[in-house]
Amino acid sequence: MRHGRFQESMSNLLRDYGESISFDWRLYRHDILGSIAHARALRSAGYLTEDEFASIESGLKKIGEEISAGEFSFSVDLEDIHMNIERELTTRIGDAGAKLHTARSRNDQVSTDLRLYLKDEIATLQKGVRVLQGALVGLASANELVLIPGYTHLQRAQPVPLAHHLLAYVEMLDRDHGRLHDTAFRMDELPLGSGALAASTLLLDREEIAKELGFSRVTQNSLDGVSDRDFALELLSALAILGMHLSRLSEDIVLWTTIEFGFAKLSDRHSTGSSLMPQKKNPDIAELTRGKTGRLYGNLFSLLTVLKGLPMSYNRDLQEDKEAIFDSVDTAKMALAVTAEMMTALIINQDNATSAASDPSLLATDLADELVRKKMPFRKAHDLVGQLAAESAKTGIPLDMLPMELIIKICPELMEEWGGLFDPIRSLKARSATGGPSPANVSMRLAYWKSILT
Ligand code: ARG
Repeated sequence: MRHGRFQESMSNLLRDYGESISFDWRLYRHDILGSIAHARALRSAGYLTEDEFASIESGLKKIGEEISAGEFSFSVDLEDIHMNIERELTTRIGDAGAKLHTARSRNDQVSTDLRLYLKDEIATLQKGVRVLQGALVGLASANELVLIPGYTHLQRAQPVPLAHHLLAYVEMLDRDHGRLHDTAFRMDELPLGSGALAASTLLLDREEIAKELGFSRVTQNSLDGVSDRDFALELLSALAILGMHLSRLSEDIVLWTTIEFGFAKLSDRHSTGSSLMPQKKNPDIAELTRGKTGRLYGNLFSLLTVLKGLPMSYNRDLQEDKEAIFDSVDTAKMALAVTAEMMTALIINQDNATSAASDPSLLATDLADELVRKKMPFRKAHDLVGQLAAESAKTGIPLDMLPMELIIKICPELMEEWGGLFDPIRSLKARSATGGPSPANVSMRLAYWKSILT
């Protein structure tokens, strides 16, 4: 590439500073697909003979196989994956190889490769999301009748089915799946043909190339085609949000597996020990996922910052997109898989969960609702039940065991049904609004998700 223009060879420092082959080699499969489609278009336009095309195609396929088998040696002197492959092809097949880069620049090539690569990775990530949803639905289904306290402010609030809690994550993950879908949709445009920035005087059939590579559309502005990485930002953002969801789920597991909560136990296969304290069984698996969310956010901010202030059109800064993208894709794929495995093997401690959910104070709101049914304004009902709760807190007598004289004094309206008001199942059955935690709703939603996920 330097032969024509430069007399001196590149400084070794610049070579090491600028190389991307150490990480962009993983675009090789998509680089080769893109090059074959480009070569086919060159042949159709008359810039390659049939024979030249055939030797390019078979040469590229051979190189692809060697890279897959780990038999190809990359050179940092050739900077990136695009030049490593092109140079090797030319070394092997001669002039035909030297024609491959006709009407193409690495600027449109790298954007094409990256989109092709990410479309595949997104499909894998979406499968990973579905697998985790399946694990959560499986766990929910196996424990459909188990109740836990629901929390706000991490204070016990109202009882909910454990399944309802797990299904909350299934809904969140479904939006993650949707965000990945949207990202793939907008990414689905072929930039090849944009050239370095101003397309080419040698015209190729871009629509044909798009079709061969599985792109739905071609980009409509050559400067935009080589310039923007918003498609990568959208993915990093979708993965940052996904990471946030996985982190929250992980935090719940960290809490649930404490002795203090005791709602669940990690399987031995998904727990770690302490090098010092023999009794410890630690949830490192969940903590790591919580911690790795930092990278997912960091990668998003790193690329946002790289892109900010770049003048039109391609700038070498854009090479800094790749490590952030690769790291987020790898991290998210692993986190999904690990979390799915951990949730599948999680052991629910039904006794602890049930006993915590039977805390009568969790039904205080139900007492107020009952008074409303008897035509009392809600604010007044809230106040009266608050007095009972305060008495219970002060004396240590559970709400349902308070002396009848006190009930008669503070809210005589509840006197008759008092004993029956503290049944969490009765409470849940009444919470039957769409999205509410009634057992019928939960079982309907479980059936829905099972039908989607199988
Ligand atoms: N390795 C480069 C990148 O990742 C490829 C494009 C280089 N283009 C250039 N004109 N130097 O962005």
